[in-house]
Amino acid sequence: MALLDKDRIFTNLYGYQPWNLKEAQARGAWDNTKALIERGREAIIDEMKASGLRGRGGAGFPTGMKWSFMPKQPPLDQNGNPKPSFLVINADESEPGSCKDREIMRHDPHLLFEGALVAGFAMGARAAYIYIRGEYIREAETLFAAREEAYAAGLLGKNACGSGYDFDVFVHRGAGAYICGEETAMIESLEGKKGQPRLKPPFPAGAGLYGCPTTVNNVESIAVAPTILRRGAAWFSSFGRENNKGTKLFQISGHVNRPCVVEEEMSIPFSELIERHCGGIRGGKDNLLAVIPGGSSVPLVPAAEIWDAPMDFDGLRAVGSGLGTAAVIVMDKSTDIVRAISRISYFYKHESCGQCTPCREGTGWMWRVMERLRTGDAQVEEIDMLQQVTKQVEGHTICALGDAAAWPIQGLIRHFRPELERRIAENVREAAE
Ligand SMILES: Cc1cc2nc3c(=O)[nH]c(=O)nc-3n(C[C@H](O)[C@H](O)[C@H](O)COP(=O)(O)O)c2cc1C
Ligand code: SF4
Repeated sequence: MALLDKDRIFTNLYGYQPWNLKEAQARGAWDNTKALIERGREAIIDEMKASGLRGRGGAGFPTGMKWSFMPKQPPLDQNGNPKPSFLVINADESEPGSCKDREIMRHDPHLLFEGALVAGFAMGARAAYIYIRGEYIREAETLFAAREEAYAAGLLGKNACGSGYDFDVFVHRGAGAYICGEETAMIESLEGKKGQPRLKPPFPAGAGLYGCPTTVNNVESIAVAPTILRRGAAWFSSFGRENNKGTKLFQISGHVNRPCVVEEEMSIPFSELIERHCGGIRGGKDNLLAVIPGGSSVPLVPAAEIWDAPMDFDGLRAVGSGLGTAAVIVMDKSTDIVRAISRISYFYKHESCGQCTPCREGTGWMWRVMERLRTGDAQVEEIDMLQQVTKQVEGHTICALGDAAAWPIQGLIRHFRPELERRIAENVREAAE
């Protein structure tokens, strides 16, 4: 059964109504937020844990548990003064195919600001920083304007919502680097440094922004929090399967009749998602070649394996891929799959920050071999060699960009090896770009 309108968290996802405070309040945002805060830190975190919400930024880490890692008593600085804690909201959304956080920010920004306050309060944060990717110019303008409204109405700032809690939200524009979406690179960038990931540990909850306890959460993870608290953990966890709870924004692009962003129940089968919301595959079901179900960094899944798969963390892991950001890239049989994966390889080569040798060198290696496979200049032995290079990069780097570069190629070799061999055998030649 499809998600009913009454169960949607994002009731203005398509911007049919204005985003402004008055309209957002009419839709239910900022409704007695003071009462949510009065429940106390522990109760909010317990409710979030019980809801089963897992982070919507890609890795799927349980949100309530993440908040609980923040210290109850603030650590002291070298002068014996308590350090502040911070919430950082990840609005970098640079993973190719992902376009859900943008819809929240431009059409319902108050959901995000209210979420920032309740999440920030629950983790004892003094302020939240929303780090938005540089290319989201209109979305940033909307955030700045919505922030003004929230301050003017006393919802943020001193004594936020009359709760007695002082809480600020800052909006920070990035300069357009994919790597700044990685949480520790984001913290570096916020501090005014080059956006390069930090080695962990220490983890941000111990030493994050300016060396203070910090939690980084995705826009969607934060924006759903007030509704979960209002409607209750039992309501949210009534959607989806065990370990994969809630509603979720799916973003379907590529060869479907109607690409869209839609809020649906977690674990909806792929076929239902596509038939119900996207008008089916272009040219019909039999024309489907493969799907990248979670943004460009996850391995592709061939048509036969994806069709009945539940669209959730476990369902997509079972078919050798992942939910990631739920950016579903659909490719029909007109797709040159080698070319598509080679283009993704180029993206990761371009976005590598260059700190670790396996990633800096490996992404270039992988892309160059992919290009030879594409243009028909590779030897058949290079397929195994490429596979080995992906294994030498995967798991051997500071951040997960190395894995993100390796996995799409592993998926290609796993499922389309005969196609790679055919191109080499038939000497399929394509001009280099
Ligand atoms: C290379 C790279 C890029 C990332 N980009 C984003 C991003 O654009 N948005 C995001 O929310 N998380 C991104 N992440 C994941 C973040 O590091 C972090 O896990 C996430 O913001 C945590 O939020 P969540 O717990 O709410 O999911 C990225 C991770 C890596 C390794
Ligand atoms: S894996 Fe790549 S992007 Fe990540 S820190 Fe290392 S070099 Fe930088």
